[in-house]
Amino acid sequence: MTNPEITELIAKLRDERNLSDEGLATLIDCEDATELLGIEADKVRRKIYGDAVYIRGLIEMTNYCKNDCFYCGIRRSNTSATRYRLTEEEIMECCREGYSLGFRTFVLQGGEDLYFNDERMCGIVANIRKNFPDVAITLSLGEKSRESYQKLFDAGANRYLLRHETADNEHYHKIHPAELSPENRKKCLFDLKEIGYQVGSGFMVGSPFQTTENLVADLRFLQELDPDMIGIGPFIPHEKTPFADKKQGELTLVLRMVSILRLMFPHALLPATTALGTIHPQGRELGLKAGANVVMPNLSPVSVRKLYDLYENKICTGEESAQCRGCLEMRVKNAGYHIITDIGNVKRS
Ligand code: 5AD
Ligand code: FES
Repeated sequence: MTNPEITELIAKLRDERNLSDEGLATLIDCEDATELLGIEADKVRRKIYGDAVYIRGLIEMTNYCKNDCFYCGIRRSNTSATRYRLTEEEIMECCREGYSLGFRTFVLQGGEDLYFNDERMCGIVANIRKNFPDVAITLSLGEKSRESYQKLFDAGANRYLLRHETADNEHYHKIHPAELSPENRKKCLFDLKEIGYQVGSGFMVGSPFQTTENLVADLRFLQELDPDMIGIGPFIPHEKTPFADKKQGELTLVLRMVSILRLMFPHALLPATTALGTIHPQGRELGLKAGANVVMPNLSPVSVRKLYDLYENKICTGEESAQCRGCLEMRVKNAGYHIITDIGNVKRS
């Protein structure tokens, strides 16, 4: 590809918010397009969101998980993981601390832990709702029945994050055990949307066996789902998983995907993820400059942070919540943006 050809393709993507599969594949693979994609994505993001970066406080409430995803460090077969669950009181304490630090969105994330059944989970959600009526309660607790999602919504949850992980069925089966199905995962996402949740989806970049065509399929699936938030980050191997020896996702490929997402979904909330910050010291800043507009500081108690190890060398595991919040504030500022502490709803055109 010559430079004028790249420029033309990016302009078309920006203007039409779409390209042919071939066009998308060309940009995804084109190392030389990384910088220009970032520049155009940043322009689009500034037009809609200015220099605003939204913060979401992440509370990692349990690392018990009944699933066995081949890539994930908290998979049930990892017997060397030290398992923990936060108590309801500990979760409330994280929220209180987060609220006083300016957070107006809490993300309760965890493995698929049967201990937190509907009754317990609805109790926790209702308790947060009662004490913090003006916050957005986001859940990220994996696949559930439509009935369970409905109960949690009725208890006061308003957002749900569930990455589709990969939209290609064959690829899905290469990175998950047979009992997990891409059909059910996608059904969960559409159920959540129908119930009225603001939905976040996303995928790993550079996961084992992923092809460029798989990434194009991810973009097509997102066009169909039209989520409010799209979270992507590099795959990072974890030594206690079957993918211990697989290669980590590439920084520039993640950045191109962030920029392509910004151009295709100008209004979307796109986090600069912890995984991105883990593979490069300035990963999150680079993500913001490439079009991302959300960061998710860790609000979990420091005592459990190292235990929520989905992948190796995860950052922010030694810091207090206030430090993590302050650190990100500086990083966002140095990258040329600034943190907004309101609830941060997606802007719909
Ligand atoms: N590398 C990068 N991301 C991972 N996730 C799980 N395991 C890994 C890994 N090894 C991501 C998945 C999941 C999210 C919570 O973390 O996409 O949805
Ligand atoms: Fe968490 Fe820097 S963002 S410590």
